[in-house]
Amino acid sequence: MPEKPEFVVTPYEVRGRIDYERLRVQFGTQSIGPELKDRLRRLAGGELHPLLEREVYFSHRDLPWILDEHAKGRPFFLYSGRGPSGPLHTSHLVPFDLCRWLQERFGVPMYIQITDDEKYWLRPRLTREETARWARENLIDLLAVGFDPQRTHVFVDTRSIAALYPLAVDAAKRIPYSTAKAVFGFPPSTNIGLVFYTALQTAPSFYPSWVAGRPVPCLIPCGIDQDPHFRITRDIAESLGYPKPALLHSQMIPGLLGPDRVMSTTGEVAENAIFLNDPPKTVAKKIRHAFTGGRATVEEQRRLGATPEICSVWAAWRAKFAPRAEEFERITRDCRSGALLCGDCKEQLIERVTGFLAEHAERREKAAEWADSAIVERPPDGAPGPAQPTSGRASGPA
Ligand code: TRP
Repeated sequence: MPEKPEFVVTPYEVRGRIDYERLRVQFGTQSIGPELKDRLRRLAGGELHPLLEREVYFSHRDLPWILDEHAKGRPFFLYSGRGPSGPLHTSHLVPFDLCRWLQERFGVPMYIQITDDEKYWLRPRLTREETARWARENLIDLLAVGFDPQRTHVFVDTRSIAALYPLAVDAAKRIPYSTAKAVFGFPPSTNIGLVFYTALQTAPSFYPSWVAGRPVPCLIPCGIDQDPHFRITRDIAESLGYPKPALLHSQMIPGLLGPDRVMSTTGEVAENAIFLNDPPKTVAKKIRHAFTGGRATVEEQRRLGATPEICSVWAAWRAKFAPRAEEFERITRDCRSGALLCGDCKEQLIERVTGFLAEHAERREKAAEWADSAIVERPPDGAPGPAQPTSGRASGPA
């Protein structure tokens, strides 16, 4: 009998303690080495986003090609997304924090896909009223990260279907059922909506090229769990006349209850994540109960130090709440040496998170004003229409 895997990562299941290096090799993606980091840092004006600096983003496909194109004056666009199954928590913002930074540094457009259909098909108990409501709520949260209203466009699948459908139709024709079944591990009871869905997640990668009538390079920052969708996208891109999208993959952010459980909206206890609408008392309670890498007693911790790598409080500092390098390094050092005790570290995080949530709530009000106008409902008049499947138009990565 084959051994039970210690971890599983697919778009529809993340389980176990993930060995990211093994996963990267298994998925066949590239690591983001020091040279690539340096090149990105230079192009971004001398600084790297902490998520890249700290290697929360640890893997890519064809990132150098995106940078080459950029250097030749051929701007790329960013694409990421969210399945609206409930309220957002802080780690849902990770890809969008990076996208916001990339948008600002490179001056590029951002496309966000809100997959209300996907989550409705996936979760037996979700109603369409609920997915519609979460689609709007989540969208406002994502825009509140600070995207440029002039350069940010949104697809909400059930509302944007006229824009996406021609591309999804072209994609679906080239994806055999056996591929969807093998890639996502669908059991026979899977509804046919979900079998088709990957064609819709592919569509935004091609949309700007389709509308412009020429290849526009696409960069997708996302959790590594989404890579299987985009392997399919990349496999069919050139036969449709589009360049393969490039990818930047992040680790899955561990929840508050420990390193083996990533933050998740559904199927998990609410204590595992900080939701963007948690009141300050709830935030304090959740963080005080969080799993840490601390020792059994204060005396032991002072003497031996703690282990940041397994600590969910440290994970929160790393991914979001200690953006300044000096502060993050100090926290890490003092944790390891025993100078910083878990109780104090938690109180500091509570204060930081509470402050962030208050500011976020304010930014949400501004974002709500332009959320509707960012939604793309149909392609612009005069769009050239479905691509002709010639290989000549794609000028993608080698
Ligand atoms: N499938 C993603 C989810 O479940 C949503 C999504 C759609 C997405 N398009 C994307 C995520 C592009 C990352 C990049 O949340």
